[in-house]
Parts: sequence; C-alpha cells; structure tokens
Amino acid sequence: MKDKKTEETSNKPVPRHVAIIMDGNGRWAKKRLLPRNAGHVQGSRVAEQICEDAFNLGIEYLTIYAFSTENWARPKDEVDALMKLLRKYMKDSIQRSSKNNMRVHVIGDISALDEDLIESIKKLEEVSASNTGLKFQVAINYGGRDEIVRAARAFAEDVAAGKRKPEELSEALFYSYFDTAGIPYPDLMIRTSGELRTSNFLPWQLAYTEFYFTDVLWPDFNKKELQKAIDYYGSRDRRFGGV
Ligand code: FPP
Repeated sequence: MKDKKTEETSNKPVPRHVAIIMDGNGRWAKKRLLPRNAGHVQGSRVAEQICEDAFNLGIEYLTIYAFSTENWARPKDEVDALMKLLRKYMKDSIQRSSKNNMRVHVIGDISALDEDLIESIKKLEEVSASNTGLKFQVAINYGGRDEIVRAARAFAEDVAAGKRKPEELSEALFYSYFDTAGIPYPDLMIRTSGELRTSNFLPWQLAYTEFYFTDVLWPDFNKKELQKAIDYYGSRDRRFGGV
C-alpha cells in the first residue's frame, strides 16, 4: 500500500470516506463451532487486509467500529479478549504504519482504557501522524451520543473560559470539537451481517451518508465485497437535500 492509487480505480465515483460496522464475528465463529473470540481474531485480520484493499481501490479515509461504549456490557471474558486483540493490533500497527504509510487515529473516549493500551494508541498516532497514505480511524470505546456530549462539554468549557461566545457556534465550529474534526463526513457506511441499524456509530457524521447493508459476516468480508459496496455507491444519486 503506497501513495499511488492503482489502475483498479475506475471512472465510477469512489467514496472518499468509508465507515464500516464490522458485525457478525460471533455468528461466523458459531457456524464453525468455534469460540466467539475466534471470530474476533479472524475479524481483526480482515480489518487489516481491508485497509490495504480500500486504499488500492481509491478510498482516502476509512473508519471502523472496533469497540463501542455499549460493548462493555458483554461477558468479561469477551471484553478481555477484545482488549487483548486491540492491544496487539495497536502494537503491530506501530511497525505496519511505517511500511504501509497509513495514518492512524483513534476516536472515542480512550480515557477508560488500560494505561498500556492508551500508551500504544498515543505512540501509534504519533509515529503515523505525517503518513500520507490511507487515513484510518479506529473507533474504540466510541459512542456517537457520547462524542456529541463530549463536544458540547468542550465547547461549554471554552465559553466559560471566555475563549468562545455561544452565538459563534455553527455546525462547522461544533464539528471542530468532535473526535473526527478535520475528517470529511463518510460518503458510504457499510454494515455486515444483515443487521439494519447504525448502533450509535457516527450519528452526526452519517446524516447524508449512503448506507450499504450486506448479509456477509465480517470475517468473510473481502476486497470483492468491498468492490460491490463501492459499485452500489457509484450507482446512487446523491442530492444532499437538493433536487
Ligand atoms: C461484532 O461482532 C464485532 C465487534 C463487537 C467488534 C469488531 C471487532 C473486531 C473486528 C475485532 C477487533 C478489531 C480490531 C481492529 C483489532 P459480534 O460479536 O457482535 O458478532 P455477532 O453479532 O455475530 O455476535
């Protein structure tokens, strides 16, 4: 995955920013009589591969939902296994990002994570900050409503400190307080495994996004399936409220 896009990019519009809800790891494992964690392990491999495929298909920004604010309610074993996977993923990505030129940014409230994981995240963000390849956002302990509340609080604090005035607030200024500040809104949101909901993922940012739902389970998702989603996007007529 280098800076240059490949010839695979066709004339059809390619979404600049794709957001993915990677669902179905548990069902994938169950179908194979494997523990749920085996599905997450395979899911994290697919997430790694999809970064490369996305960039080769001409996508500039990719945002994935790795762990939601609601996922803490899962059994402790599963939460621990997911955290272990994320820990490994962040550590491995420190090396990988220098090879594949990817810029990684974690969104969500990371303050609730273990200290060593926070350290890995910070290090990864730091070492990859000036990379010019795929802009990759990983949502960890992310909840869209939580993000909006944190943004509102940060703005209120700036008002209280005399840095801002309430009447200054616009959509653009408010967005600058979000975890995804500076990142264009997603053009396409993909959810795997057949569920038709957005589950508190980027509610502000997805307001005009095209949605693509597929029955394919996340661990089975691949470049061909991503291409299908891009083709679907290319066939949509985006009017943004116009005619
Ligand atoms: C949904 O599957 C998936 C998640 C809870 C989070 C996604 C996590 C990964 C792909 C692995 C970790 C990611 C990285 C980047 C290291 P589910 O368990 O809800 O599946 P089910 O609905 O079939 O039970």
